[in-house]
Formats: sequence, C-alpha cells, structure tokens
Amino acid sequence: MEVIETPDKMIAWARNHAVLGRKNVLVPTMGYFHEGHLSLMRMAREYGDDVVVSLFVNPIQFGTNEDLSRYPSDFDRDAELAEKEGVSVLFSPSTDKMYPAGFQTAVTVEHLSRHLCGAHRPGHFTGVTTVVVKLFHIIRPDFAVFGQKDFQQLAIIRRMVLDLNMGVEILAHPIVREQDGLAMSSRNIYLDKDQRASALSLSKSIELACELFQKGIRDTTRLGEKVSAFISSHAGTDIDYVGFVDSNTLEFVSEADNSTRLLLAVTLFNKVRLIDNGLLAGFS
Ligand code: PAJ
Repeated sequence: MEVIETPDKMIAWARNHAVLGRKNVLVPTMGYFHEGHLSLMRMAREYGDDVVVSLFVNPIQFGTNEDLSRYPSDFDRDAELAEKEGVSVLFSPSTDKMYPAGFQTAVTVEHLSRHLCGAHRPGHFTGVTTVVVKLFHIIRPDFAVFGQKDFQQLAIIRRMVLDLNMGVEILAHPIVREQDGLAMSSRNIYLDKDQRASALSLSKSIELACELFQKGIRDTTRLGEKVSAFISSHAGTDIDYVGFVDSNTLEFVSEADNSTRLLLAVTLFNKVRLIDNGLLAGFS
C-alpha cells in the first residue's frame, strides 16, 4: 500500500493508473477506522482494480463548538488496517495542502442540506460536499463508496454528482452495527459503559418504530412521540431531531409507507452527538 500525502502526487498517481486502464474506487473517510469503514473498503474492492482510501479530518465540516480538536485519530493503526484490506493507496493530505492560504471556493447542495443535520450543524454539508468534490477531482474515481449510516450525506452527494455531471458512480453500503445494535461510529469511543446504554436508545427506538409501523400505525406525529419518549427515558439524552422522511427525496412525510425512513440525531451527556437511521418497513 502506498501512502500519498499531497494532492499533486495523488493526481499524478490517478493519471498514470487511468492511462493503464485501471479502475479506481474511492472510500472517503476521516479515519479512526472501525468495522464500518473496513466493510466499505471490502465493497470497494469488488468494483475496481485499485481502492483508494482518503483519510482526512476535514476542518470545514466541523462547527466552532464541535469536536474537531478532539476527533480521534491513530494513523499507524489505520494504515495497518487499510493495508490488510488490500487498499492500494491511503491518501492522507495535511490541512494546509487541502486548504492552502487563499482558499475560498464552496460547493453547496441547496435544498437537501437545509433540514435534519443541516439545520443543527450550519455549514456542515457545504464542508462535506466541498471536500468530496476536491477528492473526486484529485483522485478521479470511477466509483465512490459511502455508508448509509450518514443517510443525508449520501443523498446530498448523489444529488451533487447528478447536478454537476461528475460521472462518479456512488455506491451505498448498509449500516454496520455492533452486536448490541449500536451503529458503529468513530465517536463511540467517547462513551463509557453506562453512557453506551443510553446510546443504545437510538437503535432500539428505530426497532420500536418498526414494530409500531408493522402494527399499522402510520401517523408520523404519533410515531415520533413514541420514539422521542423512548429516547428521553434514557439518562443524558438530548434529542436534536426525530425525522420521518421519504427514503428517495428526504422530504418529511406525515403518513408513513414502505419507503419511509426514520432519521435520528441525539446528543449524549452534552458531549457526543450520534446519528442513526432505519427503514420502517425493515430495520437494517
Ligand atoms: P467518516 O465519518 O469517517 O465516515 C466515512 C464513511 O464511512 C462514510 O461514508 C460513512 O457513512 C461510513 N460509515 C461510518 N460509520 C458507518 C457504519 N456504522 N456503517 C456503514 N458505514 C459507515 O463521513 C465522513 O467520514 C465524512 O463526512 C467524509 C465523507 C469523509 C467527508 O469528509
């Protein structure tokens, strides 16, 4: 596995590989790999000749009061794990190389970035789409893999690729969970054992919503009340949002159907913000 640290070298690598007719598949990440990231890398291997993993904690997608300064990292461990997954290149540029002095361009997907996480993290999705465009330009992937864990992010990137004719095929990987149901996240290490019990209220509340949906409850206001009450009954939970949306358009719905997805964001013990989601017709 090659480690490449500058956009220029990465561009040169991508050009050489394109000439050889090799297809490359990108997995964008912010590192501190867990089984979710590694599953994305495994999926990527099935779609091309080379897997490129980007490891870059993107400062412009963090708000001023968010966890940028304490975002977990362990480069050596990440490099070892990526190598084991057969990754060809780990692209890990510095912030200065990605955002040199004078940087001032942004890409925003307007409508889809406004609600849900967008309403609670102003500027977050513009930070995500801007860095993803840069990564696509630098790496020129044929495919890029994103996790359904960040369901709104995935929808926004799909929209951007369509709107800007970017010609990258976006692949979605299902949510990878711990055995107890907690969606894997680099931020889970912030939680101690007791706090983790509260974190489980997210996945359990999605299960609850699925059960109620199976029983015939379709009114999302009612479903939302049950979900919120369940989460709030756990210590240290502060709900950012409980949203029932159409899986394709991400518009809020008042009557649930088979394509309705529950999206959740909850801040735990004033320090960790977790997200999760699931289709009401079948929790995955
Ligand atoms: P990060 O949080 O590191 O996630 C990298 C990728 O892994 C994303 O596509 C995310 O959806 C996926 N992922 C994380 N946890 C997952 C899980 N439990 N199951 C399935 N997939 C999971 O998302 C980002 O980084 C950044 O916003 C990025 C796209 C890299 C732009 O900076």
